[in-house]
Amino acid sequence: MAVDAGRTRSRRAGAALAGALGRCPGGGGPLPGHRAGTGGGALRALRHRHRGDGGSRGPHGLRRVRPAAAHLLPRVLAPGFSPGVPCRRGGVPVILPARVRRFPWPLEGDRYRYSVNVEPAPRVHRTAAGEWGGAVLDFNEAYETELAERAAILGRDPGRHVERGHMRAASWDALLHLLSEAAATDPAMTLASCGDREFHWENTRLGVARRFRFGDDDSLGEPPLRFAASQVPDDIVLLDERGGRLFADAGVVTFASNWSIRFVLGMSFTELHGPVPRDFADGAIPRAERFLLGMQPGDCYRRLNWSSTVGHRLDASLETYDEWGAERGRMSDIGDDLHLRVEVQHLIRLPMSSSIMFLIRTHLLPMRELVLIPAWREQFAAVLAELPDEMADYKGYGEIRPELLAWLRR
Ligand code: HEM
Repeated sequence: MAVDAGRTRSRRAGAALAGALGRCPGGGGPLPGHRAGTGGGALRALRHRHRGDGGSRGPHGLRRVRPAAAHLLPRVLAPGFSPGVPCRRGGVPVILPARVRRFPWPLEGDRYRYSVNVEPAPRVHRTAAGEWGGAVLDFNEAYETELAERAAILGRDPGRHVERGHMRAASWDALLHLLSEAAATDPAMTLASCGDREFHWENTRLGVARRFRFGDDDSLGEPPLRFAASQVPDDIVLLDERGGRLFADAGVVTFASNWSIRFVLGMSFTELHGPVPRDFADGAIPRAERFLLGMQPGDCYRRLNWSSTVGHRLDASLETYDEWGAERGRMSDIGDDLHLRVEVQHLIRLPMSSSIMFLIRTHLLPMRELVLIPAWREQFAAVLAELPDEMADYKGYGEIRPELLAWLRR
């Protein structure tokens, strides 16, 4: 994936939100445009109160989203495979699990180096096993389980949600954006406007119904970012722009890969990427920040990152290192234990607060399922064999590399 020079500007105003919104149960006024003053006015007021820096810039409005829930996409099988008998392993037919068919395969070619690998989103990508990427939010079959896991983590450790005081306006912006995106993606979710900044949200997959007033924390009963993270499967980080730099000033992150949201809170983009090897990823980090600063309200891009995890463990945060750190040293079976960890990361310049919303959706694929696709097996082995030591170490493939290569090539 490469930076698309001709950036697609996905500007969507109130009318677009109206397309994603339904009618309020029990009536309500005519459907108001978001731009015309349902949330925007409240958000500007909040912003003045918290930052006093002159309000939002650029056009206001919400992105229109494509109603292409990944789980609604037609079943796509790898080329040459027939439905029901998609591939053979040792002469035995194997049906590809959905997580393989829709896995966001991160590699291109036989060599991997750091780059500003962003592309406009959403956009469907075909892989050797199927396809992914038709929607920003992916409400797949693991959705309920993963959201229950997030709720349990937040129950045990509420510090996975952090927020600096001036970010409340951006958090409301993020909430409305994510709920309208969700409503346009999964038919089990609806967001209805009830007039005067009132909204009704319903999510039948989780059995959640909530009526709230945009900008009014009490009406929601919990901080807006935390509620957003209880409805969408992605981890969420909000970056504030100040003095031409970006700062990670809010987030709900329960499925981090070897980092901690409470540790990076308030850090600049450069500081939080401090541990990345090869002199800030061969210069990709400063280039990425320049790219992000150039994003306009409503722009939506994405990138993939890949690493490794032992066990099907979404929560590989620094907070739980004592639980998973030792597991890396005692793998009994590479095929079942070692997972390719891929993060689909969306970068969205929020339409009203102008903050950058960074979404991280984590996918795990055990090596045993990766090798079901011969092209993936070969490509992964080639990339791994060529990967510089410091990158292999950072991604968690350093020590295991010789054994893994032998296993992949057996
Ligand atoms: C275009 C945008 C971005 C690019 C190109 C980028 C690039 C990278 C790269 C190359 C790594 C190392 C990954 C690896 O080798 O497995 C990394 C790690 C990381 N990135 Fe980014 N990143 C971007 C946006 C962001 C944003 C917006 C955040 C917001 C919080 C973020 C947070 C992190 C964190 C926390 C790590 C782990 C650092 C550690 O080891 O403690 N990145 N990023």
